[in-house]
Amino acid sequence: MSTAGPSAALIARLRAAGCVFAEDEARLLQSSAADPASLETMVQRRIAGEPLEYVLGWAEFCGLRIAVDAAVFVPRQRTEFLVRQAAELLRAAGDGPGATGGPAGRPPVVLDMCCGSGAIGVALAAIVGDIDLYAADVDPAAVRCARRNVAAAGGRVFQGDLFEPLPAALRGRVEILAANAPYVPTEAIGMMPPEARLHERLVALDGGWDGLDVVRRVAAEAQDWLAPGGHLLVEANERQASPAAEWFARNGLTPRIASSEEFGTTLVIGTFGGPVRGTVSGTAQV
Ligand SMILES: C[S@@+](CC[C@H](N)C(=O)[O-])C[C@H]1O[C@@H](n2cnc3c(N)ncnc32)[C@H](O)[C@@H]1O
Repeated sequence: MSTAGPSAALIARLRAAGCVFAEDEARLLQSSAADPASLETMVQRRIAGEPLEYVLGWAEFCGLRIAVDAAVFVPRQRTEFLVRQAAELLRAAGDGPGATGGPAGRPPVVLDMCCGSGAIGVALAAIVGDIDLYAADVDPAAVRCARRNVAAAGGRVFQGDLFEPLPAALRGRVEILAANAPYVPTEAIGMMPPEARLHERLVALDGGWDGLDVVRRVAAEAQDWLAPGGHLLVEANERQASPAAEWFARNGLTPRIASSEEFGTTLVIGTFGGPVRGTVSGTAQV
């Protein structure tokens, strides 16, 4: 539509509906709408409480536009920290300038487990360059969405429960296992903002009684899939980090916790056997 700024009336409607960044949203909606009728439809969906990303059909993540379909988990800005840490680990594992951690000069294998839209793998490919990207999710809608996003990075997306759908040939070859699994404790789901609670699937949010059910399952199998010196990275809240790190240690991974004030998030990073090749600044060993 027109490149003129959004009207004051549109901004006021969004603000009245509780949109905190009404001006920005109005601009995005206007620039995405093909004509006034479709703008009105989009505005009504937004005012009815649909997440902006579903209305637009994309989310901004690590400076990229990631396609996001209805009900698929919207990638959060905080997850950029996980991407940056993974990129740093891959660089640290490289053999030479610009090289990344694949064996014998081959691109490193990256597995985006619980991939949702595939945002983590796509962003990592954009930052690091040449990676051998695999992704998996149990939700068919997420898999459809991720396939569109990872195609440009040459990645492959599998549907099924955690590692079950993956090719056996990947065992022992994964350099980065990024698993932003659901980690909200069941009883905290009701306190989530309505945009998440009402529009994203429970399977994308609910991590069981303490939020760590899926994380524990991923960590328990990780050493079968990681290459020596490879890393598992998961997001957690502050209270979950220590128990998750202890679980990592019980399952053959050397854990550490990395926190970021900038992104307001905490990661647990586990390194499997072999030499600990990637060390990350600003982290504490547990
Ligand atoms: C918190 S979302 C994260 C999505 C994406 N990684 C991101 O950061 O935007 C968690 C994802 O895990 C998937 N998931 C939950 N349980 C799973 C399982 N048992 N196997 C595979 N995927 C699962 C959900 O469908 C959802 O897409």
